[in-house]
Amino acid sequence: MSADSKTPARRAIRGRVLTFLDNPARVGDEASFRYIEDGAVLIEDGLIKAVGEAGELLAGDVARDIEVDDHSGQLVLPGFIDLHIHYPQAGIIASHGAQLMEWLEKYTFPEEEKFSDPAYAAATAEFFFDELLRNGTTTAAVYCTTHETSVEAFFAESERRNMCMIAGKVMMDRGAPDSLLDKAPENGSVAGYDASKRLAERWHGRGRQHYAVTPRFALTSSEAQLEACGSLLSEIPDVYLQTHLAEQRDEVEKARSLFPEARDYTDIYDRAGLLGRRSLFGHGIYLSERERARLHETGSVIAFAPTSNLFIGSGLFDFDKTTAGDNPVRVGLASDVGAGTSYSMLRTAAEAYKVMQLQGQNLTAVQAFYMITLGNARKLGLEGRIGTLEPGSDADIVVLNSAGVPALSHRLRDGGADLAEELFAFLTLGDDRAVGAAYVAGRRQN
Ligand code: GUN
Ligand code: ZN
Repeated sequence: MSADSKTPARRAIRGRVLTFLDNPARVGDEASFRYIEDGAVLIEDGLIKAVGEAGELLAGDVARDIEVDDHSGQLVLPGFIDLHIHYPQAGIIASHGAQLMEWLEKYTFPEEEKFSDPAYAAATAEFFFDELLRNGTTTAAVYCTTHETSVEAFFAESERRNMCMIAGKVMMDRGAPDSLLDKAPENGSVAGYDASKRLAERWHGRGRQHYAVTPRFALTSSEAQLEACGSLLSEIPDVYLQTHLAEQRDEVEKARSLFPEARDYTDIYDRAGLLGRRSLFGHGIYLSERERARLHETGSVIAFAPTSNLFIGSGLFDFDKTTAGDNPVRVGLASDVGAGTSYSMLRTAAEAYKVMQLQGQNLTAVQAFYMITLGNARKLGLEGRIGTLEPGSDADIVVLNSAGVPALSHRLRDGGADLAEELFAFLTLGDDRAVGAAYVAGRRQN
């Protein structure tokens, strides 16, 4: 990473500016975005001050006392947002041949045990942030491990880079190796509660950091621990909740047998008070209409993670059924690395497109780019800060450049593609090589 040290308080980014205004599924592709062919974004003290025609914004005196990063001809977008990812799984991404339960036992838990070592956690966090930025991802909702050290290492690195992150300590009090389980403290409080509270009090709302209460899933938490998570949600204003829900069939069966009083898997979390607008549920593939109705009523969010769903054989997420109909659920896009196979939100969106194709559904490129920017920002309730280039928001920006991807630049060589075709080519053929630059709070990172 080559963060520049002489970042001026003011700078401008010039290029083909593209930002979203609303959900294309609601208002139509054309009305959903603002596009300025020769545009500029003016940045002051890490915030977007103005956005408009370069000719107007950079005219006269302004151009003289401002540093301009000229990306003319390249797409300038809000930084990408990943709604669900595990930083401790950076070391086991691409592990062969297992579905969820075996994958957790064989690869994930042994790797997560290493995060009791602060140095290991810090080194992994550093790698993880570099990798996110290389892929143009500037915000993510992140699982750490059960160790407090893993959370400290994560937030310390995020704060050092002034990135907007949502993260939390995984909570588990059963169903995993003993070394990974939260231990009940002497004071009689529920295992994992005190540590989570300490971390939330330390990090939630500090600079650009946000805390997420993070019970791994119903199979690794007792009812008492899930209830303690509910207490944390009511005790700490605006804290998030993240967990997994209905990812694989045998997981659903196991969850139901562990919680026989619950009506269904969603009800396990509901009974503990864990549903709501700041609650992020990974996957949600195997849900009943009743469950979707409850998720809808409470404004809860599902993180659709197509590369993960394919890689560990979870199944095809029914996007249309989940987002349309009488009980539309809020759905965002996520990599879910390390069950997911790419950090790139372009690759993630491309696989979402294919998962939908297999079910006769259609994702437009404009919808996909909305989802990985403003759409995911809305799912986090952060649309006033990130996911947009509107004045007043944080200057987290990605620049896309086809030059690094020969198949892509060849596809676009004659300049005949319209914007939607070009965006679709970027998500189908693009990856980290298509990211020309990333800015965090106005600072260029790569
Ligand atoms: N369910 C519980 N833990 C995990 C995890 O780490 N990854 C995925 N994909 N599913 C889970
Ligand atoms: Zn996950």
